[in-house]
Amino acid sequence: MWGIIATWRMAHDGVLAAKKMLEAEAFAGDAMETAIKSVEDYPFYKSVGYGGLPNENGILEMDAAYMDGDTFAIGAVAGITDVANPISVARKLSHDKFNSFRVGDGATQYAMLEGFERKNMLTERAKKIWEKRCEEIAKTNLSPYDGHDTVGMVCLDKQARMTAGTSSSGLFMKKKGRVGDSPLSGSGFYVDAEVGGAAATGLGEDLMKGCLSYEIVRLMAAGLTPQQACDKAVYEFADTLTRRYGKAGAFSLVAMNNEGAWGVATNVEFTFSVAVKDGTCGIFMANPGPDHTTLIQPITQEWLDAYEKRIKAPV
Ligand code: GLY
Repeated sequence: MWGIIATWRMAHDGVLAAKKMLEAEAFAGDAMETAIKSVEDYPFYKSVGYGGLPNENGILEMDAAYMDGDTFAIGAVAGITDVANPISVARKLSHDKFNSFRVGDGATQYAMLEGFERKNMLTERAKKIWEKRCEEIAKTNLSPYDGHDTVGMVCLDKQARMTAGTSSSGLFMKKKGRVGDSPLSGSGFYVDAEVGGAAATGLGEDLMKGCLSYEIVRLMAAGLTPQQACDKAVYEFADTLTRRYGKAGAFSLVAMNNEGAWGVATNVEFTFSVAVKDGTCGIFMANPGPDHTTLIQPITQEWLDAYEKRIKAPV
């Protein structure tokens, strides 16, 4: 068996590239890194890598993580700047026994010393969107915060090796140094190759209150299917957070077990991409359903056309 599941429509081209690699017996880590890099490299995705939206000072600070489900090795970066592919830096760090989670200048300097490509990641388009938002905030009481669509993936290869990874530019207009769930093990991602893995997207401040990626893996280890585990973890925590904290931000999780079965749960409309051996391959739309269930439908061409228009609309 092999399989890969990823958050958001934006991951789909990368998932297709990973699918080819997995069919040809590639290591899950290589296939997943290729898939995440393709999202990081695409200039029209506003929440990951090149083209991502900056913090309130106009600086693009990025977070990423890589986890190996066989060894539990983790590498992560937070607030890294001017580096083309944060996921590759995170993966490299996962080989280190110490200092494997780097932040800010420490992360950027590490990437430079290790020879990763230096790149100005703030596109003219992202800069314009930031300038426009600054003007709007000055004029109105508009909440400055918006958009936190992480790409998160879980990957299983033919040898039953599993990896999980994330990459995100985090919350648009965040304060300097703000870090979300994406580089945090257990919150943004988690994988145990003897069980399965999960990855998250959504409001990091709330996701990390529930350690939802770890919780989903724990529930799968206890015998739940990936879909049951996602439904239970996500909807019960959304209810608990609403009751005890007053509200729950948007969050969505994807999961896959070590047999290629997968699941998704979300408290908002959410798209995801999945490919598994001899089975599903495509983009789907998920919505919260009745009684702590998730409604999943194939994406429509109409939705895809509108999405394409929206991400490329003039600023
Ligand atoms: N989920 C990404 C973030 O909140 O930064």
